[in-house]
Amino acid sequence: MKQNLSAPVIAIDGPSGAGKGTIAQLVAKKLGWSLLDSGALYRLTALAAETAGVALDNEGKLSEVACSLDVEFVPGADGEPVDVLLNGKDVTLDIRTETCGNNASKVAPLSGVRAALLQRQRDFQQPPGLVADGRDMGTVVFPQAPVKIYMTASAQERAERRYRQLKDKVEGVKIATLLSEIQERDARDSGRETAPLKPAEDAVIIDTTGLGIEQVLSQVLKLVDERVINSAQG
Ligand code: DC
Repeated sequence: MKQNLSAPVIAIDGPSGAGKGTIAQLVAKKLGWSLLDSGALYRLTALAAETAGVALDNEGKLSEVACSLDVEFVPGADGEPVDVLLNGKDVTLDIRTETCGNNASKVAPLSGVRAALLQRQRDFQQPPGLVADGRDMGTVVFPQAPVKIYMTASAQERAERRYRQLKDKVEGVKIATLLSEIQERDARDSGRETAPLKPAEDAVIIDTTGLGIEQVLSQVLKLVDERVINSAQG
């Protein structure tokens, strides 16, 4: 696949809770580029399957569900997160639950599901550029991306961040439970045969453990400057 110079891609991969989503949103806003939250498509597949009563190991039916997803991403005003519509219904919050995330990680290893979602993801690559976050953006979906980042953080820190997000919203949430769920999800996402979670060979690894959002953002923007903005000018 050739590199599309009119719509460069910044691919940000890594395990759940590493801060990819936040950074991807900020970078897209700063550059005025489109955003692809590829995990949302796996979450939507899991949710649509649940609604249709399809079992999470029925690859044939799940691939059909993934293929025929009726999804709309409605951009929020002034960089606010997008609203996600499934069959016209607002499911923005439904797809963010821990259960939906875990179910997404169960449907994601199925190669039929991944194949069904591949072109849908590539269609997001439009000028002036795309920031894409997920697990296989740099390795499979956009292998020609000029900027590939693998963003990670220790499992303990990711569990603590998730705890801070959830503690006022969900009663009885415990760091230990979140930690074991994160470890289980990491093992499933990294251990699968199809498009496992791993850094692309040419990815820059950013460990966000102990770093603030601004520090990570400036590292990413520096890479974009070096590899996209300056190389287009030079
Ligand atoms: O990034 P997230 O937590 O929204 O992703 C939910 C699940 O979807 C994740 O556990 C694995 C899967 N996923 C994937 O396999 N490939 C992607 N590009 C994005 C997500």
